[in-house]
Amino acid sequence: MSAVLDLKSHLAEQINNDHLAGYSRQKLRALAAQHGAPLFIIDEDRIEGQYKALSRALPAVKMRYAIKALPDPYVLRKLRALGSGFDVATTGEIDLLKRCDIDASQAIHTHPIKKDAEIKAALDFGIQLFVVDNVAEIDKFLPYKDQAQLMIRVNFRNQDAVVDLSRKFGCLLTRVPDLVAHAQAQGIEVVGLSFHVGSQVPSPSAHVSAIEMSADLMANMPQVNWRVLDIGGGFPIEYVGPTMAIEDFCAPINEALSLLPPEIDLLAEPGRFVAGPSAIHLMSVVGKAQRGARTWYYLDDGVYGVLSGQIYDHAKYPVMTLNHHDVDVPLMPSVLAGPTCDSIDVIDEDIELPELQIGDVMVATQVGAYTMASATEFNLYHRPQSLWLKAADLS
Ligand SMILES: Cc1ncc(COP(=O)(O)O)c(C=O)c1O
Repeated sequence: MSAVLDLKSHLAEQINNDHLAGYSRQKLRALAAQHGAPLFIIDEDRIEGQYKALSRALPAVKMRYAIKALPDPYVLRKLRALGSGFDVATTGEIDLLKRCDIDASQAIHTHPIKKDAEIKAALDFGIQLFVVDNVAEIDKFLPYKDQAQLMIRVNFRNQDAVVDLSRKFGCLLTRVPDLVAHAQAQGIEVVGLSFHVGSQVPSPSAHVSAIEMSADLMANMPQVNWRVLDIGGGFPIEYVGPTMAIEDFCAPINEALSLLPPEIDLLAEPGRFVAGPSAIHLMSVVGKAQRGARTWYYLDDGVYGVLSGQIYDHAKYPVMTLNHHDVDVPLMPSVLAGPTCDSIDVIDEDIELPELQIGDVMVATQVGAYTMASATEFNLYHRPQSLWLKAADLS
């Protein structure tokens, strides 16, 4: 190859790899050819990297991975091996831990609303720490007051979060003294506070003010033997726009946490930060049609499948072709659609793409969290196969 051509193809490769974070197009195409598409791939090394980055950024905090983000046995076993505990919300998640031979020693139950049967299943498994946010829920623990300890979930509304969880759960901070008094009057032990300032938050200010207010409240209620503060999740990742580096995001959180007495156990329930960047999704073009000024490409998965997070989680994933195309190849206004018969199943209506052929493979990145977890089988398109690989198999 001439030096000029060589430089050109090197440049094209670099441009094409911008969002691929080190993965090789060639290897991804080979994986799609070997296993078929759609193909959901979890990168073991990235799970480890994300977990360690967050643990380093929050050195005083114990991690309780939020299983709901990506309830995958390989992910759970890996995180356990790295020392993580688990945030469990349902009996189904407990069953998954059991299938992975993971015990309850570092598990907490964080669903503020649950049936008696779910409380029993969690206690039988060995979980002792539960979350409540109202009187009716506290009363459910009367029969189990010798086995369970409670955290009160406090509601800190956050308009800035992509997913504002305090709309649905948590009590006002001013209600905490009454709820504690109600529990104590019945001999039910309250040991902590928990909150979740919303998922994918743009800045740490919501965490900081929630920690400061929680610390104040604890200091003003010395009649309680406070032992835990659980700061939830919310730690952001990069989708199509930039996000704060995790160590910068966590620096003011650490400062706020230093206000708490050293005997308080600090917990976090990260889901998105650990799982999100750790998976990619390969999809192939199964059809194409010119409709008006745009070319529509139909892929073999879409918003009813792994990209369901576009609907439920309000996420927009980087999606790109795996073709090696030249820097000067013309880009055309295109639409990417999923395979189902529903017209809502459109991944991107406004994307510029080089011309694609049937069988070409596309990749969506940052798709580990709230994606496979909420994929449906609408139209009886089955959930994609999932692969657990090392970074070296992909790079
Ligand atoms: C109770 C609870 N904990 C933790 C999480 C995980 O949050 P994130 O994915 O923002 O880290 C969620 C997300 O819905 C949640 O509801």
